[in-house]
Amino acid sequence: MLFKPYRIVPVGGQQCNFYLTDCIDLFKQLPERSVDVIVTSPPYNLGIDYNTYSDTLSRADYLAWTGTWIAAAARVLRPDGSLFLNVGAKPTDPWTAMDVAQAARAHLTLQNVIHWIKSIAIDRSSAGAAAGLTRDLAVGHYKPINSERFLNDCHEFIFHFTPQGSTALDRLALGVPYQDESNIGRWRGAGEGVRCRGNTWFIPYETIQRRDRDRPHPATFPSRLPEQCLRLHGLKRIDVVMDPFTGLGSTAVACARLGVNFIGADLDETYLAEAVSRTREAYAAASETAAAAAVLPRRAVRMRKAALTSAATKRLAGA
Ligand SMILES: C[S@@+](CC[C@H](N)C(=O)[O-])C[C@H]1O[C@@H](n2cnc3c(N)ncnc32)[C@H](O)[C@@H]1O
Repeated sequence: MLFKPYRIVPVGGQQCNFYLTDCIDLFKQLPERSVDVIVTSPPYNLGIDYNTYSDTLSRADYLAWTGTWIAAAARVLRPDGSLFLNVGAKPTDPWTAMDVAQAARAHLTLQNVIHWIKSIAIDRSSAGAAAGLTRDLAVGHYKPINSERFLNDCHEFIFHFTPQGSTALDRLALGVPYQDESNIGRWRGAGEGVRCRGNTWFIPYETIQRRDRDRPHPATFPSRLPEQCLRLHGLKRIDVVMDPFTGLGSTAVACARLGVNFIGADLDETYLAEAVSRTREAYAAASETAAAAAVLPRRAVRMRKAALTSAATKRLAGA
């Protein structure tokens, strides 16, 4: 039996459960093999200014702690489950992400490495005529670095770990349409007119006006990132999703939109309260969109009937 959640947000027939606790304690309460997918981003130990958590452990302590929570995650993951582990770095400490991935190696198999592209520049000449660019393109957001040595950091890793390295994925759930129609049919799965998106995902941050009001947390990912992870794992196979480091609840927001159960923990009540209200809003917005989508075809039928009736009336009247 789990201890009491801080808040429960109903999302259709499912629930998002938020726990104000250390994730290690939450993991201990969960039965083994009970979670389908974990999408998360732990603190990176880069001295980030969180409200409660102190992001300045020694490298050895940080990696030992990383091993502890990943072992706990591996225990609760189903045999065909997925752990999508997002880790960034800073230019003066570029090994962080790789070190975290190495700490997971003893517990899980690295099945895919995905690059979360936050910003990209594409030259018109390299894109080719089919792309229809009228000029060179530079899209997305990143924190500019003023340095003679280091490049602006425009990506982070998403390590996809699984228990055996053999978790089947719904690759075409994120499919992209073929640019060149002549390729359709040449590759497996091409019958649907889309191909696998591959392991570079361009997901920009939403533009915000005021950080303290619109995104009051120093290290979030956009909710489209967990949404893509969940779709890739395969929505049909997902019952329970977890984010042990919930922050502002980006994974919970994705679960609310997709209508799947969520369990999450964070040490900080301010973050968790914001996560709860974002999840409620996301569910309300998704329900409105779904209701509108259901009404639209009915309205179209009514309008068509009205048009036919009026045409018939005019015909009968000899107009
Ligand atoms: C990188 S942030 C996660 C942000 C989240 N992905 C989002 O998009 O909002 C890491 C979070 O982990 C929380 N945290 C740190 N140590 C924790 C622990 N032992 N248990 C639970 N949460 C923890 C921090 O308070 C912080 O909000």
